[in-house]
Amino acid sequence: MLISLEGLEGCGKSTQQKRILDYLERRGMAARGFVDPGRTPLGEAIREILLSPESSLGDLSELFLFAVARRQLIRECIRPALARGEVVVLDRYYDSTTAYQGFGRGIDMTLVEEIHREVVGPTRPELTLIFDVDPEVGLGRTRGKHKPNATNGQLDRIEASGLDFLRRVREGYLAIAAAEPERCVVIPVVGDEDEVFARVQPVLSRRLDK
Ligand SMILES: Nc1ncnc2c1ncn2[C@@H]1O[C@H](COP(=O)(O)OP(=O)(O)OP(=O)(O)O)[C@@H](O)[C@H]1O
Ligand SMILES: [Mg+2]
Repeated sequence: MLISLEGLEGCGKSTQQKRILDYLERRGMAARGFVDPGRTPLGEAIREILLSPESSLGDLSELFLFAVARRQLIRECIRPALARGEVVVLDRYYDSTTAYQGFGRGIDMTLVEEIHREVVGPTRPELTLIFDVDPEVGLGRTRGKHKPNATNGQLDRIEASGLDFLRRVREGYLAIAAAEPERCVVIPVVGDEDEVFARVQPVLSRRLDK
C-alpha cells in the first residue's frame, strides 16, 4: 500500500509521517517512509540544487529535476519496498509537482500530467493526505526549524517565491483533492500535532480495514 502526504511547507508532513509509521508498526505492519525528492544519491544531489537559493533555475528545469529525482526514488526505493509487501508512506510525491509547478508556477498542466504518466506510471498512492494550512502559519513554523540551506532565517529558494505563490499552491492542492475525492483526504491543520493526528488516524484505519 502506498500513502502520500502533501501540503505546504511547515504543514506537518514530516511530523505526521513519523506518527503514521509508528501507528502502522503498532498495528504489526511493515512500514517505510521516504521523502521526495531525496534518499537516493542522485535524489539528494538534485534536492540540493533545487533548494539552493544560488541555483537560478527556470520553471521547466525545476520541473524536470523533480521528475528525475522522483524516477530514481520510485525505482530504487518505492517499488522494491512495495514488492516486499511494506506500507510506504511518502513525504511529498507527484501532487507536489502538480501543485507547485502546475498551479503555482503556471506550467501547462498537460505537460505536468504527461510527465507524471511517464515517471510515476502505475505507482500511484491509494491514499493521499493533504494537510491544509494557512501559508503564513506554515512558513512561520518552517522558519523556526533548522534548514541546511538557509542562513539567518533566509528562506530557501522555493519558499522565497512568496506568499501569493503559496496561496496558489494551496488552492491547487484543494483542486487536486476535489478532482480525486476517492484518493485524497484534506486534513485541516488546526490544533497541535496530537489533534492533527487524531484526524489522520481514523482515515488510516478505515483504509487499512477495507
Ligand atoms: N499541529 C502542529 N502545531 C504546531 N506545530 C507543529 C504542528 N505540526 C508540526 N509542528 C511543528 O512545525 C514545524 C514544521 O513541521 P514539519 O517539519 O513536520 O512540517 P513539514 O510539512 O514537513 O515542513 P517542510 O515542508 O518544510 O519539510 C516543526 O517544528 C514541527 O514540530
Ligand atoms: Mg518536512
